[in-house]
Amino acid sequence: MRRLQAAIEGLDVGVLVNNAGVARPAMAYLHEADVEAWVRMVRVNLWALTEVTAAVLPGMVERGRGAVLNMGSASSEAIPSFPLNTIYAATKRYVSMFSRSLYVEYRSKGIDVQCQAPFFVATRLVPSAMLDSWLSPLVPTPDAYARAAVRWIGHGPLCTPAVSHQLLWCLAGVLLDAAHDWLRLREHLRLRALSQRARAARVSAADRGEKMTHAKK
Ligand SMILES: NC(=O)c1ccc[n+]([C@@H]2O[C@H](COP(=O)([O-])OP(=O)(O)OC[C@H]3O[C@@H](n4cnc5c(N)ncnc54)[C@H](OP(=O)(O)O)[C@@H]3O)[C@@H](O)[C@H]2O)c1
Repeated sequence: MRRLQAAIEGLDVGVLVNNAGVARPAMAYLHEADVEAWVRMVRVNLWALTEVTAAVLPGMVERGRGAVLNMGSASSEAIPSFPLNTIYAATKRYVSMFSRSLYVEYRSKGIDVQCQAPFFVATRLVPSAMLDSWLSPLVPTPDAYARAAVRWIGHGPLCTPAVSHQLLWCLAGVLLDAAHDWLRLREHLRLRALSQRARAARVSAADRGEKMTHAKK
């Protein structure tokens, strides 16, 4: 915090984008990963965002203007559960409530606080199996997402900027919660099985490579 405060001293920070986020461990039951791994996720997704916002707000209040954009996720807003990614979705729920309340607190001071809640965007955070699925036409590139995201800054406390995500959000509203829960768990168990198979294949390829090196020696 001290380093951050020193770095921004004297700077006119007009727009803060809290984009950093961690989604791994993904497709895992809570008891399967080290608690430290979940704590790391909470530190970045929730704690760092809080600290950076708190560091930047005093300057914005002084100047009477500014915008804070927090990256949330549709996983905590548009659907009722996100099984096997529980901590991730829970941290994103914090982000939306944090943003909504700050929006109300700081609007009269000229500062817009917004949570953007996208569905999947084609970055390294998304499992590759997801990008190959029927959903792929609805997954924007990071550039396309960023263009839409910038246009939405200042338009309310919660939004999903990409048109394909707005469509998915409407579709999600039609399904019953129990149906969502069942479909999500089934899909995430499938993705989990695919990533476990890919990991096993990588390990056995590495073993084969090691054995060949030994044989050559
Ligand atoms: N992609 C999606 O489908 C999707 C959907 C909903 C929400 N989101 C949210 O969108 C945001 C951006 O994610 P992305 O999709 O662009 O994922 P990404 O490609 O994995 O990028 C994550 C970013 O977070 C930074 N980061 C992670 N841990 C950090 C740490 N300890 N300190 C500083 N920086 C750290 C990474 O920095 P380095 O490059 O230095 O590692 C990287 O720039 C995240 O908040 C994510 O939760 C993404």
